[in-house]
Amino acid sequence: MIDIKDINQDPSMDLFASPSNLDSNLRSLLDEASSILCDWLAKADKANPSPSYFNKSEFSLSLNGISKETLFEELKEIIDGSFQPSSPGALAHLDPPPLTSSIVGDLIAAGLNNNLLAKELSPSLSSLEKNICKWFASQLGMSEFSGGVAASGGSISNLMALVLARFKSECLYEKDIAIIASSDAHVSISRALKIMGIPETSLYHVETNDNGQLLIDDIKNALISIQIKNLRCIAIVATAGTTVSGAIDPLSEIADLCLANNIWFHVDASIGGVYALSDSTNYLLNGISRSNSITINPQKILGIAKTSSLLLVSNTRDLYECFSTGFPYLEQSNEDDYQRGELGLQGSRSAEILKLWLGLRQLGIDGISRILDNSLTRKNYFLEGLKLDRLNLINGPLHLLSFRPKELSKEDSFNWSINTREILLKNKFMLSSPFYKDRFFLKAVFGNPHTTLAHLDHLVDIVNHSLK
Ligand SMILES: Cc1ncc(COP(=O)(O)O)c(C=O)c1O
Repeated sequence: MIDIKDINQDPSMDLFASPSNLDSNLRSLLDEASSILCDWLAKADKANPSPSYFNKSEFSLSLNGISKETLFEELKEIIDGSFQPSSPGALAHLDPPPLTSSIVGDLIAAGLNNNLLAKELSPSLSSLEKNICKWFASQLGMSEFSGGVAASGGSISNLMALVLARFKSECLYEKDIAIIASSDAHVSISRALKIMGIPETSLYHVETNDNGQLLIDDIKNALISIQIKNLRCIAIVATAGTTVSGAIDPLSEIADLCLANNIWFHVDASIGGVYALSDSTNYLLNGISRSNSITINPQKILGIAKTSSLLLVSNTRDLYECFSTGFPYLEQSNEDDYQRGELGLQGSRSAEILKLWLGLRQLGIDGISRILDNSLTRKNYFLEGLKLDRLNLINGPLHLLSFRPKELSKEDSFNWSINTREILLKNKFMLSSPFYKDRFFLKAVFGNPHTTLAHLDHLVDIVNHSLK
């Protein structure tokens, strides 16, 4: 028998913030947690991006939970074993340090614990999401009907885009469909097909040129092969910022081709999309406004804490028609203001949009342009120091590039990338080693605002030395 009085004396109540007083437990937890985090960040310039040790102990639970002191000791161990994006040598991936306001955004989002599924669970945040998507879409030149939805990462945005493309082609259940993307497109495109039950052979991977871009004639040839096989091409996927070299496909020409053949045009602008926000770089994305859908990931360069991705579409209604099922337990959507949970794949979603909003507001247009321009300057400075005559470079117009010594066999390129990466790590630099066109490369991403010219000089020395 439950003693009804227990309800009023539930000891677990202390683990939730008091609804009637300023909760001193919460205050002290937040104070202590934020000083642990700030201490960790404050040592980042002496830290290796990759920790030398991390705790792999098994997970278990004690019967009565643990004290605050033990909780923080354990938390410190996890933190000490974490990748440190604020280390100036963290140049391996598209994972920059978080903006300060973005850190606060995640904290507040957790405290609010709203749900972007529906307006009744997130009144102001649902509206914020809608307006931010509309703003991005208009910055990218899309029509007045455009909008979008936030997702947990670019892979989900790309998946939603291809589900939508198939829906709009009215080939919902047919297996005789095809999709064209470049051989440099992100793996999330082939994974999306896998999830959608589309055979691997339906993905026409068109080879890229030496700059990592799709060639229009090759796309036309792929379309002819698709036609000969009596398949229906439901989407052409262009990439604005490829993962290995930051290449941008010829968007305007692909838009022409899609229009002429009535094919959905999706641009995976996970990396390059934010370049449209700056007057000095928006020319790089000419033609993107003519796409039907765009994936954009502000987490990849602007310092918005993960995850932050948007799927933008030329007509928001398409998202609703494709994904809505109705929620018997929620208020109905209406034409002008869809329930946000009806616009995509995900159900419950956290208020992640808050950190994007805070981050963008903190930066302003000038702040965004500064991040982009300085990242490009860092890359160009690095390039100037390199012994370019000894290197094979793949280098698009964005803030990343990959390189390897010329004339190495596959095995030698593997050994060079592994050995050089190890030397770099000993010197607190972390680069990645992508496998590209049958060779191993090193890849550097220059979006880390803590990387100074002195760091770049040191990096150049190590790379040049590896070529001897
Ligand atoms: C071009 C491109 N598209 C999509 C993605 C997937 O993004 P996410 O890791 O956020 O799912 C990536 C990841 O690096 C990428 O480089």
